[in-house]
Amino acid sequence: MTMNKARAYSAGSPSAPLARTTITRRDPAEQDIQIEILYCGICHSDLHTVRDEWRSVVPTVYPCIPGHEIVGRVTKVGSAVKKFKPGDLAAVGCMVDSDGTCAECKADLEQFCPNMTLTYNSPDKHLGGVTYGGYSESIVVNQRFVLRVPEKLNLPGVAPLLCAGITTYSPMHHWGATKGKKVGVVGLGGLGHMGVKFAHALGAHVVVFTTSANKKEDARRLGADEVVVSKNANEMQKHERSFDFILDTVSADHDINAYMNLLRRDGNLTLVGAPEKPLAVPAFGLIMGRRSLSGSAIGGIAETQEMLDFCGKHNITSDVEVIPIQKVNEAYERLLKSDVKYRFSIDMASLKAE
Ligand SMILES: NC(=O)c1ccc[n+]([C@@H]2O[C@H](COP(=O)([O-])OP(=O)(O)OC[C@H]3O[C@@H](n4cnc5c(N)ncnc54)[C@H](OP(=O)(O)O)[C@@H]3O)[C@@H](O)[C@H]2O)c1
Ligand SMILES: [Zn+2]
Ligand SMILES: [Zn+2]
Repeated sequence: MTMNKARAYSAGSPSAPLARTTITRRDPAEQDIQIEILYCGICHSDLHTVRDEWRSVVPTVYPCIPGHEIVGRVTKVGSAVKKFKPGDLAAVGCMVDSDGTCAECKADLEQFCPNMTLTYNSPDKHLGGVTYGGYSESIVVNQRFVLRVPEKLNLPGVAPLLCAGITTYSPMHHWGATKGKKVGVVGLGGLGHMGVKFAHALGAHVVVFTTSANKKEDARRLGADEVVVSKNANEMQKHERSFDFILDTVSADHDINAYMNLLRRDGNLTLVGAPEKPLAVPAFGLIMGRRSLSGSAIGGIAETQEMLDFCGKHNITSDVEVIPIQKVNEAYERLLKSDVKYRFSIDMASLKAE
């Protein structure tokens, strides 16, 4: 196997800042597509992983190269690749492989495949070690996991669709966020702001719950019909027992009972946020009103393509602050303070300039 060197940014330990490195990418085999990465979004999952906050479930292997919101241009394709050619735009999200044979894969739900390979921090079947993500100048991915990018969308804002986009689009569809439904979105961050855009585009009545009073106006601009500052108990109470569906995108510890109480009979609260520590679930919040609590993880490849096509049709992209990769450590600190509107997107040209 011929190998390609690629410049990248990696973390060497939970406490070390990310720093410049060089990694190896495989040469594209028959089914592979080699992509020059143009933009990569910064997901809060990158930060959880770099700092090993999910060690009880998926310990981080160092060096860790995060990044799973990837958009770029095809530079080379394997002999069996027909749907992409060099020069095409292409995108990669949180997964780069799965067994393709299990019940989940057959149902187009590769995200639940027991043998799924994540874009980073998963065993690398080709090179050994773990997979390396999108904070890099290139990546090589099996064509089954490469997405087509609709023309004319703002590319830095497309990158976050590959995780923040599909992670909010999928549960909105699954739980039926449509016209006539009252839908809540908790946390106006990278995921949250995409959730608002999708729920609004699907015709639901959208209410945003935020801890940041200064995001109120933005929430409306993004498509919210109402905005609640969640620290205000009076405002919260007004919405008791009224929601069909609430999507919780919060990345840190918080009181989910406050939101459970806002669900109507048979309403559902879905967690997509993945805080480090377990959340307390009060039985009565569920018992009274036959409410349900569930989770959701990204979406399958077919649904991810459907989401991208939906974004193309409705001209939806993420609101991004484009940064050079040299600012990634600063960006992590700002992400922790909810100080980004509403996703950082790394311009990978900055990596080459170094
Ligand atoms: N399930 C999946 O497939 C999946 C996919 C991607 C990410 N995730 C997870 O989803 C979570 C959110 O990711 P993200 O990239 O959207 O993060 P993010 O941009 O940091 O957004 C999280 C938002 O949560 C709110 N928040 C933060 N700390 C809070 C606290 N202590 N109490 C209450 N609210 C708080 C903030 O919104 P306000 O300022 O509006 O309050 C913040 O903007 C992360 O845990 C991430 O790992 C899961
Ligand atoms: Zn993510
Ligand atoms: Zn499978």
